[in-house]
Amino acid sequence: MAAVIFNRAPILKKQTGIIGIAFVRVHNYSTEDKAYNLSQLKRGTGGRSSFSGIVATVFGASGFVGRYVCNRLGKIGSQIIVPYRGDPFDVRYLKVAGDLGQVLFTHFNLKDEESIEKAMKYSNVVINLIGRDYETKQYKFNDVHVAGAARLAKIAKRVGVERFIHFSALNASHDLKPVILKKPSGFYRSKIEGEEAVLKEFPAATIFRPADIYGQEDRFLRYYSQSWRRQFGAIPLWKRGMATIKQPVYVGDVAAAVIAALKDPDSAGKIYQAVGPKKYYLHDIVDYLFKVMRKADPKRGYAIYDMRLDPIFQLKVTLTNLVSPSFPIANLHWDKVEIEYTSDYVERGVPTLEDLGIKVSALENHAPWQLKPFTYGLYHGHAADEPYPQPPPPKAIA
Ligand SMILES: NC(=O)c1ccc[n+]([C@@H]2O[C@H](COP(=O)([O-])OP(=O)(O)OC[C@H]3O[C@@H](n4cnc5c(N)ncnc54)[C@H](OP(=O)(O)O)[C@@H]3O)[C@@H](O)[C@H]2O)c1
Repeated sequence: MAAVIFNRAPILKKQTGIIGIAFVRVHNYSTEDKAYNLSQLKRGTGGRSSFSGIVATVFGASGFVGRYVCNRLGKIGSQIIVPYRGDPFDVRYLKVAGDLGQVLFTHFNLKDEESIEKAMKYSNVVINLIGRDYETKQYKFNDVHVAGAARLAKIAKRVGVERFIHFSALNASHDLKPVILKKPSGFYRSKIEGEEAVLKEFPAATIFRPADIYGQEDRFLRYYSQSWRRQFGAIPLWKRGMATIKQPVYVGDVAAAVIAALKDPDSAGKIYQAVGPKKYYLHDIVDYLFKVMRKADPKRGYAIYDMRLDPIFQLKVTLTNLVSPSFPIANLHWDKVEIEYTSDYVERGVPTLEDLGIKVSALENHAPWQLKPFTYGLYHGHAADEPYPQPPPPKAIA
């Protein structure tokens, strides 16, 4: 006879032959600590309906990068906790990122520790994608990128989260010189302070420093495609964009790198620079984008000119800031303009996405598809299946 005793529910079961006692512990998930190792619960073939061993709370999941990260997490069979603010219907579309019942939502406030703890209590991974390009009345850069990030890291440490992934920004540095404003970008300053604050609370955090990220609903390709950014068909760029070097990165590569970092324990405590494979002058990127959108026709006023010669454009930025400070039209505001003309600087010796095994793709591989909705006369003069000639890729400088 063997007695199998479940704690809290003793069951006697008769068997012939051997006599043994087995003690099976039943976890009560609402009260037990996460003392077990989730990675040991891995099961399945690695697809959407298996379990990767990852239970990830993704702060900032409702943002641009968040959508891609959630999709990648769901694709390998992870449970995803989406903390949201505002209306739950705004994030409901993320439900299909994972398998049935694997994407869960919880309301939170970045200043409320209790709601943050609730969101990450049962997770072994926390990803912080919270960020803001401009300050609002309620949240200054410091509140979001420094105090908020540090709060998340501190609570993650307290509740026993194993991996903390934090998103900073390329060029974030204390020594940054201003390009067009009197002082350097507040975004970059708060991002470097945020990195330090996170590492103080969670020294094994993995930090990503992305350059401009492009993809569906980004703020790079779409920024230039907005009519508000143009001046009657022409586009003003600081020193015609010939003094700024950019190395944009594709969002799919960034999301893949997050998953690669989670799978690689050696990435804990490291900083990764997320940049694309090629460097370009901003002038060449913008010119290429306009050619892709078939809007580079001088007959219709297209030209790239020096922003310094156009006080009206400068007034436009100032007025946009005044009229709509908490939601700048077309993302046009002075801090963004300062960031726009800050050249991307890739630090030697700091790993990049390639060190996580990611084969980063070039701008010209994605831009035509991403810009299709903005392409002029897309459905005129061409049969639906007739390919239209693409312009040559922008000239890379390295
Ligand atoms: N996209 C880029 O080109 C780029 C470049 C460099 C660095 N980064 C950094 O990478 C991260 C992800 O970028 P992203 O493009 O996905 O950003 P995003 O589209 O602007 O999304 C930002 C996310 O942060 C949340 N958020 C902002 N302020 C918040 C607050 N006060 N309380 C709670 N949540 C708040 C937003 O929530 P709501 O939806 O509720 O507003 C949203 O989910 C950010 O840290 C960003 O700074 C991005």
